[in-house]
Amino acid sequence: MYEKLSTAVQYIQSQHNFTPKVGMVLGSGLGAYIDKVEDKIEIPYSEIPYFNETTVEGHSGRLILGKVNDVNVAILQGRIHAYEGYGMDEVVFPVRTLATMGAEFLVLTNAAGGINFDFRPGDLVLIKDHINLMGKNPLVGPNIAELGPRFPDMTKAYPEELRNIFKETAESLGFETKEGVYCSVLGPTYETPAEINMFRTLGADMVGMSTVPESIAANHLGIKVVGISCITNLAAGMEQKKLDHGDIKEEALRVMEKFSSLLSEAIGKISSIE
Ligand code: HPA
Repeated sequence: MYEKLSTAVQYIQSQHNFTPKVGMVLGSGLGAYIDKVEDKIEIPYSEIPYFNETTVEGHSGRLILGKVNDVNVAILQGRIHAYEGYGMDEVVFPVRTLATMGAEFLVLTNAAGGINFDFRPGDLVLIKDHINLMGKNPLVGPNIAELGPRFPDMTKAYPEELRNIFKETAESLGFETKEGVYCSVLGPTYETPAEINMFRTLGADMVGMSTVPESIAANHLGIKVVGISCITNLAAGMEQKKLDHGDIKEEALRVMEKFSSLLSEAIGKISSIE
């Protein structure tokens, strides 16, 4: 696995000698953020050794290297989900690649269903913790000692200090972020109303089918994670209508402006953190 990572990194750096400070994963409907990136070069996943193609987003996925507010960023536009049938090692391979290239921070974004009764579609929620209900963990198997320890601590998986930068940045831009616990499920079915009631009882505020594997891999690597959920819908059974992927992507597009300005401004400030 480590050799595969080195091969992928060598290929990327042969295309563009670049060290990212911040890595980022753009979730469903949030890919348009790359319009804000300057001096960018794009590398299709299909060109990068050991990168898999995504099957959901209508395009196969691209790595974008460039600058946001003068900070070097490496952005994964299109993520690999476990429900596509990929193994967890394949799901986290791109994030591990960004870390091996030198990224010190990882910004994970996603579309999520709101479970907390105070959440509304269009809310941006900073992930303060997660509950892994995928029944899988990307670190199962022999530990890759070059990446991190066998039993990584997850007490501060989403450091408060980093979250506060995003919170304060949003306030300075004139809107509020909320905070919540993200519960990850395998999918690809949306949940049943009974499952949503159970997740709420367990302490979850929102639900989605991604992010947690990448966060676990990043915590294993010791890089700092911030997670942002865009609430695209109220979770199953909370509204009178059925859940639909098309509606979810449309709602994500509606928050693009708010989301983009928050990301760009906050990334400009990240470099002040040790
Ligand atoms: N459930 C699971 N994943 C999701 C949802 C949801 O309600 N909304 C966006 N992604």
